[in-house]
Amino acid sequence: MSTPDGSLPPTPDPRLLLRRVDKSYDGLDVLRSLELSVAPGEFAAVIGPSGSGKSTLLNLVSGLDHPTAGDILVDGEPPRTRSGRVAYMPQKDLLFPWRTVLANTALGLEAQGVRRTEARRRAAALFDAFGLDGFQNSYPSQLSGGMRQRAALLRTVVLERPLLLLDEPFGALDSLTRHDLQRWLAHMWHTYRWTVVLVTHDIREAVLLADTIHVLSPRPASVTARIEVPRPSRGGGGPRSLDPVTAAEVEERVLAALAAPVGAPR
Ligand SMILES: Nc1ncnc2c1ncn2[C@@H]1O[C@H](COP(=O)(O)OP(=O)(O)OP(=O)(O)O)[C@@H](O)[C@H]1O
Ligand SMILES: [Mg+2]
Repeated sequence: MSTPDGSLPPTPDPRLLLRRVDKSYDGLDVLRSLELSVAPGEFAAVIGPSGSGKSTLLNLVSGLDHPTAGDILVDGEPPRTRSGRVAYMPQKDLLFPWRTVLANTALGLEAQGVRRTEARRRAAALFDAFGLDGFQNSYPSQLSGGMRQRAALLRTVVLERPLLLLDEPFGALDSLTRHDLQRWLAHMWHTYRWTVVLVTHDIREAVLLADTIHVLSPRPASVTARIEVPRPSRGGGGPRSLDPVTAAEVEERVLAALAAPVGAPR
């Protein structure tokens, strides 16, 4: 996108910046010299082998855990759990079975100190958009797996933080439901333009949803490739879909980056 006089707009300060981040646990090196930058409004996918340190990475960005070395900046500040900048949907984001769906989705706001009636009013306002209308007073056991994931996502999004961290939000779902929810999330992103870091195992999911795909090496993980997804409608009003040939090409590049031996040129 260019300005009216044809010059390129200035690059915005990154919403998220990781510089030479190391993380180890009792001598186990999990992340090594990891670099990552995500611009405001960007949808970034992080993909890597199981156990490479993807959840660890999100724990660090959320401020729940701290790097052994290096810098992490969210809007220029080190992350703290109470900074109000990050909303995090962890890999196992369970809904409390004894709370109604509405009470579950308002929980994050209540934990932040928002009064219960106000928290529930704000969560309730999103039920329609999240395809959960009519289930406010149901219990999680009465929802399908896909609905439960949407409720967990609603609980995260309603916090209205500048940065949304999603750790394999659809990982446990069957492939049809996952496909539906991926399309739904693409549509939601188009409406709300969140800044997202999505951790996934699923190359197709990354290509379907993301602007940039960051490939992690096996542990100790660093980002070994940053692949831009060339979206024709980027910044425009259209859907996020890529033509199938381009999508297949990007999938091939991600696969090659995942398969390349560490240290080899990419
Ligand atoms: N709190 C912790 N204490 C000790 N070791 C940990 C801790 N958290 C993670 N690890 C270790 O760090 C490594 C990376 O774990 P992590 O959960 O980040 O991987 P992951 O990429 O998210 O894997 P998956 O794709 O299976 O979810 C693992 O070897 C794990 O045992
Ligand atoms: Mg994980």
